[in-house]
Amino acid sequence: MKPLVNPQITGLKESSTLAINQAALKARREGESVCHFGFGQSPFPVHPRIQIALAKNAHQKDYLPTLGLPSLCQAIADYHDEFFGYDFKPEYILIGPGSKELIFQALYVLEGSVLVPAPSWVSYGPQVNIRGKEIHSIQTARENGYKMQPAELQEACDKCQTEQKILILNNPSNPTGAVYDGPEIKALADVCRANNVIVISDEIYALVNFSGKKYSGFFNYYPEGTIVTSGLSKSHAAGGYRMGFLACGPNLSEVIKCLSAMVSETFSAVSAPIQYAAREAYCGDYDLMSYVKQCTRIHCAAGEYLWQRFEEMGLNCPKPEGAFYLFPDFNNYREKLALKGIKNSIQLAQYLFEQFKVAVLPGDDFYYNNEFLGVRVASVDYDGAKVYDASLAPLLKEGGKAGLDKQFVEEHCPNLKEGCDRLANFLKSL
Ligand SMILES: Cc1ncc(COP(=O)(O)O)c(C=O)c1O
Repeated sequence: MKPLVNPQITGLKESSTLAINQAALKARREGESVCHFGFGQSPFPVHPRIQIALAKNAHQKDYLPTLGLPSLCQAIADYHDEFFGYDFKPEYILIGPGSKELIFQALYVLEGSVLVPAPSWVSYGPQVNIRGKEIHSIQTARENGYKMQPAELQEACDKCQTEQKILILNNPSNPTGAVYDGPEIKALADVCRANNVIVISDEIYALVNFSGKKYSGFFNYYPEGTIVTSGLSKSHAAGGYRMGFLACGPNLSEVIKCLSAMVSETFSAVSAPIQYAAREAYCGDYDLMSYVKQCTRIHCAAGEYLWQRFEEMGLNCPKPEGAFYLFPDFNNYREKLALKGIKNSIQLAQYLFEQFKVAVLPGDDFYYNNEFLGVRVASVDYDGAKVYDASLAPLLKEGGKAGLDKQFVEEHCPNLKEGCDRLANFLKSL
């Protein structure tokens, strides 16, 4: 029997990040040497304090309140007050099984056109499509570090017919590693306020910020119209724990009310042991914060290494300032690549994987013009536990200064070097 299924879903393909991960892992299992620049999972172990808290709470078997464990919501509020100056109230925080699900639920609840800067994370588009809407992408320019300019946002708002609009903005950015600073966010917030835009501020990488500037988010400048989503997946390397949160101010309490009802009719609540363990992560413990900072230093070193190598091989690429991604483009090689039949980002990513087993994602997946030969590179193909331990040695040697330089990355993250060598040799051969 052929089931009749929702046509909104049949058009969806598997998320391309997960698909490339499967293909790369399969090739590795079959003995191929793969440089996996495709999947953005933090490679570090979950901090022992969180693991211990999880083990200690294995007996927690009762359903928790729909919004989440109250003491976890309080811990998240306190933590965000301390680190970002956000005035979250615990009653407007919702715990979910990863921030991805919460973004989906928020998009389900909210009316209005959905805007994203391009390039932006792959999953926003399909989520919007499931809701029966189209995503409106706002092409940003490499010259601006792929950061959306207020005038570009204003122009997009002018074109939208709907009274309310939704902007999803990820800062620091997957896929470019760009970090918007305070004045940049404020300027965008002013446009949002003037145009009735609700912001879903995806801050899953907020702690992975190595821009040298203090992190500022929409909630600092536009609390009345901002929904923040974040969680433990990236900064705390706990993607598989599936623990995220959504928070807003009292102005948007209607959203929390609707979401709470939806959650109660769908997944009920996030696993209780995970919520108790997450409370540990947000307790502000010094050791844990030092761990997150050191992991971020390593992300910075890996990102800078790749960026330097890309520059040397003639790719265009803004220097990453956060998260663990870069967005190089191969436009300087456009004519030479065309002779090999490579005319767009999809063909380029396919070619690099098939010929050199270097896995990257095409810019097209991130709503960026396919003809532009941009790809997303993730900088996390290394053994996080070993690299973390090794990273402490230069710290000790140099009396606190992190000696996480090119030599360190080449020695401890050999796949990053190998992937760059393969790309450089390919480009030289053109
Ligand atoms: C930009 C961005 N937002 C959200 C998420 C979702 O994170 P999670 O559902 O694990 O909280 C990811 C994960 O890859 C991401 O890259």
